[in-house]
Amino acid sequence: MPKKDVASHHPTLNAQPRIHQHAGEIQAYGTVSHALPLDLDEAVRLEMTEQLNLLLADTMTLRDLYKKSHWQVAGPTFYQLHLLFDKHYNEQAEIVDTIAERIQLLGGVALAMAADVAETTRIERPPRGREEVPVQISRLLDAHQVILGHCRKLAARASELGDDGTNDMVVSDVLRANELQAWFLSEHLVEMPLVHAQEPGMRKAG
Ligand SMILES: [Fe+2]
Repeated sequence: MPKKDVASHHPTLNAQPRIHQHAGEIQAYGTVSHALPLDLDEAVRLEMTEQLNLLLADTMTLRDLYKKSHWQVAGPTFYQLHLLFDKHYNEQAEIVDTIAERIQLLGGVALAMAADVAETTRIERPPRGREEVPVQISRLLDAHQVILGHCRKLAARASELGDDGTNDMVVSDVLRANELQAWFLSEHLVEMPLVHAQEPGMRKAG
């Protein structure tokens, strides 16, 4: 029996991948148009997703600031800071995913791309070049402060609106982790003798 041409047998089958496809968005940014069985009003989901996107943009910026610091750090504390910055980077990357997925489950659209994050974040843009350790740590602490301040307001508002899930996530996952990281960083900015203990008479009052 002669072999039949597969394509002629199944005219719709074709091994060619359908590349370079384009179409309109399926949901616009800033909307929570579809109804989910969450028992949360659309107005609440709209306000919460808008606020969470700000928190997301700031968290993505802090995450990237940690990687920049991890790569560019210099000096006698290089190794410990190189490791600490990367640990905090990984923790912030987890938080980014937690916030983004909460935005999606609330029916919103999570910010994702660097250009959109850059336009949205409230954290000051650092230079491309390297900076000394105290400046790196100060920048990171300023970023934590932006996030912590927003977390406190957002948690209270979420609670007021009855969005307990957002309140819990903001407090348990974002606020606490940022407080802990801020403590770890801050202790590096305390003036401490490295080799010689300071004699009692040498200590400055106040
Ligand atoms: Fe690395």
